[in-house]
Amino acid sequence: MTKAISDNSSKKEPTRRDFLLLTAGAVGTVGAAYFAWPFIDSMNPAADVLAQSTVDVDLAPIPEGQAITVVWRGKPIFVRHRTAAEIQAAEQVPLSELIDPEPDKERVKKNHAPWLIVVGICTHLGCIPTGNKPTQTRGKYGGWACPCHGSLYDTSGRVRRGPAPLNLAIPPYMFLTDTTIRIGVEKGEA
Ligand code: FES
Repeated sequence: MTKAISDNSSKKEPTRRDFLLLTAGAVGTVGAAYFAWPFIDSMNPAADVLAQSTVDVDLAPIPEGQAITVVWRGKPIFVRHRTAAEIQAAEQVPLSELIDPEPDKERVKKNHAPWLIVVGICTHLGCIPTGNKPTQTRGKYGGWACPCHGSLYDTSGRVRRGPAPLNLAIPPYMFLTDTTIRIGVEKGEA
């Protein structure tokens, strides 16, 4: 059974309570919910994927500069196809300017710099940051903006303005092919 997260952007910003409700709704589904924007709405997981604790994601339909959200084990996972400018911005930031210093190259897989995969949960109090939808603000640093208390993340998912103390987490995942990832396992575990 899939559970799609609806677009509430026209109503109000998501809150921690919304996310908790979504999480509660997903618990009984034993698998993944999945949603994408209309222009990639043909992306749906195979039925067998839904029953597993891992989620395979076809990256090919995600245009450069865009992102989708995959729900994995009840958590929103942001899958973002970064532009060359976004990668460059992430790589050039001096670590001394970062709240939670971490090089961009340690947050992406080798030879797959365009693809940033992060857990879409603010590290302050757990709201879902905006910025995955084309209509949403990404904030001053071009990544994501948390609507709850104003934390901002950059194009590497690193926190650039608090109160969030940590970067967006990186879930376990691996590339199966150049255009397919499996979320839930690291290489060697599959
Ligand atoms: S939950 Fe994101 S800034 Fe507080």
